[in-house]
Amino acid sequence: MESILAQGAEAIIYSDNHTVTKDRPEKTYRHPKIDRKLRKSRTRRESKILEKLQAADIPAPHLISMDDKEMKVYMDHIPGKMVKEVIDVLENEKDCVKYTKLCKEIGIKVAAMHNIGIVHHDLTTSNMILHDVEDAVYIIDFGLSFFSDKTEDYAVDLHLLRHALESRHHRIFEKCFEAVVEGYKEKAERADETLKRLETVELRGRNKGKYSSA
Ligand SMILES: Nc1ncnc2c1ncn2[C@@H]1O[C@H](COP(=O)(O)OP(=O)(O)O)[C@@H](O)[C@H]1O
Ligand SMILES: [Mg+2]
Repeated sequence: MESILAQGAEAIIYSDNHTVTKDRPEKTYRHPKIDRKLRKSRTRRESKILEKLQAADIPAPHLISMDDKEMKVYMDHIPGKMVKEVIDVLENEKDCVKYTKLCKEIGIKVAAMHNIGIVHHDLTTSNMILHDVEDAVYIIDFGLSFFSDKTEDYAVDLHLLRHALESRHHRIFEKCFEAVVEGYKEKAERADETLKRLETVELRGRNKGKYSSA
């Protein structure tokens, strides 16, 4: 039987434990034409990205089908726990070895995505599932993702991930991000230039904070 798994800002997620339906309902506060255009493009983009990930053998839900009239994406249900919750448990257990290992794997998965020109743009530990059986990290939620070969876009992706780790796993985020970078360096084809650009992106972020609080 199908039940609601989650209700986010943009979508309602239904699941029957095999198939997940991501439904983007109408947003009445938007102009109807703009709303339709936005929901349609996000539905199409998300399904295209799922297809490309599957073709490259990167762990993500497989696309079953999509409907850009009803604004629905049908995909495999990934059995597992949200990485955010897994890290919380490991942090409580003070199991630094396990959570850094997990974060290194995240870095490897992000690198694999960047290597095929996909920028996720919403990398948080809520958008990652640790698969129950395979014990592998699956990245989900490609609603804001896009294709790009720009180093800047890859660096911003890492910056957003760093920021998400800082706000959700505050006490251990530095160790976590170091492990992410270690994994990223191992796998990303353009690791050096992307990590160098990340320094510029971080600096820009800090300066902006300084000016806006002045
Ligand atoms: N394929 C999937 N398998 C298992 N759970 C999923 C799947 N897709 C989404 N979920 C669950 O639903 C939640 C919200 O889905 P997500 O795609 O992140 O949408 P939103 O844009 O609302 O954040 C996720 O955090 C996850 O718990
Ligand atoms: Mg999400």
